[in-house]
Amino acid sequence: MDINIEKRAARITVTCAGRLDVASAKEFESTLEPLIRESEQQVVLDFSHLEYISSAGIRSLLFLMKTASARSAAGETHNLLPFRLIQASPAIRQVLELSGLLETFSSGFRAAPGTVAKQGRTYADLLPLLRSAFPSPVSDTDADKQFVASIANGLEQIDKLKTGHPYLGMREPIDYNRARSLQVPETMSGVAETVAGIAEYMQGGFIWSHPRTQENVVPPTSVPSIIGNLFGAIYNPNIISDEYSYRVGLAEIEAAAMCATLVGYDPERAAGFCTFGGTGTILYGVKLGLEKACPGTFSRGVHERAKLVASSAAHYAKINVPGWLGLGTDSLVTVPTDADNSMDLAALEKILRNLLDRGEKIAAIIATMGTTDAFGMDNLQYIAGLRDSLAAEYKLSYQPHIHADAVIGWAWSVFNDYDFDANTLGFNPRALRCLWDTQVNISALSRADTVGIDFHKTGFGPYVSSMILCKNRDDLNLISRDIGLMPYLFQFGNYHPGVFTLETSRAGGSVLAALANLKLFGKEGYRGLLGHLVTMSEVLRRRLDEHPAMCQVNDYNYGPVTLFRVYPDGINAKAVFYDELNNPEAAESLRRNNEYNRKIFDELHRQMEQESGFALSVTAHYRTAACGEPVLAIKSFVMSPFIEEQHMQGLISCLEKARQSVSY
Ligand SMILES: Cc1ncc(COP(=O)(O)O)c(C=O)c1O
Repeated sequence: MDINIEKRAARITVTCAGRLDVASAKEFESTLEPLIRESEQQVVLDFSHLEYISSAGIRSLLFLMKTASARSAAGETHNLLPFRLIQASPAIRQVLELSGLLETFSSGFRAAPGTVAKQGRTYADLLPLLRSAFPSPVSDTDADKQFVASIANGLEQIDKLKTGHPYLGMREPIDYNRARSLQVPETMSGVAETVAGIAEYMQGGFIWSHPRTQENVVPPTSVPSIIGNLFGAIYNPNIISDEYSYRVGLAEIEAAAMCATLVGYDPERAAGFCTFGGTGTILYGVKLGLEKACPGTFSRGVHERAKLVASSAAHYAKINVPGWLGLGTDSLVTVPTDADNSMDLAALEKILRNLLDRGEKIAAIIATMGTTDAFGMDNLQYIAGLRDSLAAEYKLSYQPHIHADAVIGWAWSVFNDYDFDANTLGFNPRALRCLWDTQVNISALSRADTVGIDFHKTGFGPYVSSMILCKNRDDLNLISRDIGLMPYLFQFGNYHPGVFTLETSRAGGSVLAALANLKLFGKEGYRGLLGHLVTMSEVLRRRLDEHPAMCQVNDYNYGPVTLFRVYPDGINAKAVFYDELNNPEAAESLRRNNEYNRKIFDELHRQMEQESGFALSVTAHYRTAACGEPVLAIKSFVMSPFIEEQHMQGLISCLEKARQSVSY
């Protein structure tokens, strides 16, 4: 008999060929016994080439079983043998069967595992419970009702948490240490109990549609977008390819076409697809730019130095992205901003010329179209013109890529064809002026090579739903992989974005949510919604303007976010703040009033949690003043369609109350 031993990572395979009889039994035993006695891995006896087994062979197998028992007597295993037999021929199976050994040797279990659990439920008991945890695969009135009732039950529990505060339920201290000690439960729970337990985690969370929630650029989510997301959650389409997404892939193409037209791209040439957040859109944009500047980076890695250029007000993804792409965070060149939080264009030109003079490559220029803090907008029209002229002047072999980070500002594109003279939606002059000002900037989006859009920001969809738009879909060839490298995918269908996406799994729910909102709102709805938010922000700005002890600090930005500072009685806020911002000697006053505004913010936070206050936020470093100190500002970000003028009056009253209770 030939015995061949192959050691693999997880097992040892012993292939036996020929006859296992009295002549070969001793050799078989002496080869196998030490393996079974000592090996950490399972020993698999492959009998596919064994022609015959005699009773001596059977005795050898029993001897090996005894060896295994000695191992388990030493407390190593329970019922599971450290060896198992596979691929025996029918004749050999028959011999083993007649000897009563087939089941043991082929299952690898000394005795059949108990079919009745000693305690608790058997697997058979669990199966109906497991099935009831899923929506029914076929239309089944009772199961469907149960599913809807479970959702309704969950919503009802959350509804009970609405108390009038801008957050759900109670805000109690959170015990993170206890959370860190938790383990997976031993037993299964029911659907209702689990839903109740999950609802508990919503305690304390902000209600983004609440008119007193003005915390950040987090939107309330529309009913159709919630349902789109829910469909995704139930049927789990993955838009890697239309094999798994079918018409949800079509929804992605439709949403991309709508957005492409909205920003002024030619939808025939453009392409767009959803990705993992605004940061993801920047990652894609810069990656494409890097490939253009340094061809072959995708396959060879980063082999040339290349710079990323963005403003000081750009989102911190400008640091993450070069870090993660291997360019290094040091490759970021930061352009200072003007008072309106847009790139200082003279400084930009100087920086670009410097880089080009030194022979440096430019991976990408990020133009921020709606900054995180203040809704500042870069002058994209000018930036694109500058890029074109420098590329020609320096005879560059590539066009430095421009990525428009419009994850906040993109939605204002709906005003591109709004008739501001006719003003059919009847916005008041202050709001109209704000909308027009923003639209002038956002209308330049078509000059960018890629545009990032977040539906989970100003699209009013649930997290996470972002889209990267490419002006020229051929650019995607720069990051595409050979389809043959993924032999288990793309077997049929005609839409295979997984060939170029970073992600393997992309949630269909986010696409359905995005498309639902584009269809629900249309240009009219988005205009009305954004117009309302800006109208309400203008109410606040007017009141801050009128108040002697308060001032807006981002007073050139015309979006839904207002940054402001308050001062004690007797201080002329506008004059003092102007001095603090521009006077190199004003450090002491700035520091003191930063501290005062921090205390005001803490008091506002207390009012929000304990009384009928507002959920606002604070930025510790809105910008750097002439004296080198950071400017702290309190922030109102209006995202709720439920907000009314009276709420802004209420906010001023809360500020007044805070001013009275905080010491200077
Ligand atoms: C201007 C800007 N760009 C990018 C991002 C990053 O987006 P996300 O949080 O979806 O990754 C943000 C986030 O607030 C942002 O404000």
